[in-house]
Amino acid sequence: MTLNAALLLETFQRAKKENDGLRGLGLRFYERLFEKYPSVRPLFNTPPEEQHKKLMASVASIVGSLSRPDAMVPYLHAMGIRHLKYGTLSAHYPAVAENLVAVLGEHLSKEGEWTEEMESNWKEAMTTVNSIMIEAAENPEKYKDEILKAGYNADGFKSSDPEPWVIKEPSFV
Ligand code: HEM
Repeated sequence: MTLNAALLLETFQRAKKENDGLRGLGLRFYERLFEKYPSVRPLFNTPPEEQHKKLMASVASIVGSLSRPDAMVPYLHAMGIRHLKYGTLSAHYPAVAENLVAVLGEHLSKEGEWTEEMESNWKEAMTTVNSIMIEAAENPEKYKDEILKAGYNADGFKSSDPEPWVIKEPSFV
C-alpha cells in the first residue's frame, strides 16, 4: 500500500482542533494504554500530563516530515535507540501502534468522520514507524554513523537539544 501523506496530515490537523486538541488525544492515549496494556505502565516515570506533550510533538514531527525521509529516518533510528534506555522491548511496539490508531479513531469520530481509508493509512504509517525504530534498537551499532552525522549522540540523545523528539527545520547555516 502507498501511504496517503495528505490524508495523514489532514487527519492530524483535525486532531489538533477537535475535542480539546492534542491534549485530549494525548491524555486519552496514556489512559487507554495503561488500561489495555498494564504491563508497560512501570516503564513510565514521567506523568502522562508531561509525557503526552512529547509523544504528540513526536507524532507531529513525523507527520510533518513525510516528504523528508532524509530527516525522518535518522530521527526514527535515534528514537528507537533512545528507547533502549527506557526498557522498551520490540514486542511492546505493536501495542503502542494499536493504541495510537484506536485513540485517534475515537478522537476524530466524535466531531467528524473516521473512515476505513484513514484507519488503514494510520495503521500502515505506524507499522512503518515501528519497524524503523525496532530495526535501530536491535542493531544500534549499524546506525551509529548515520545518527552521529544527523547530530545525535550514539545513545540517540542530543547534547545540544533537550527536545530530541522534535524534528527541527534545517538551519542552512
Ligand atoms: C511509535 C512508536 C513510539 C513513539 C513515536 C514514541 C515516542 C516517545 C517520545 C517522543 C518520548 C519522549 C522521550 C524521547 O523522545 O526520548 C518517549 C519516551 C518513552 N517511551 Fe516512547 N514512543 C514509541 C514507542 C514506545 C513503546 C513501544 C514503548 C514501550 C512501552 C515506549 C515507552 C516509552 C517510555 C517508557 C518513555 C520514557 C518515559 C519517561 O520519561 O518516563 N515508547 N516515547
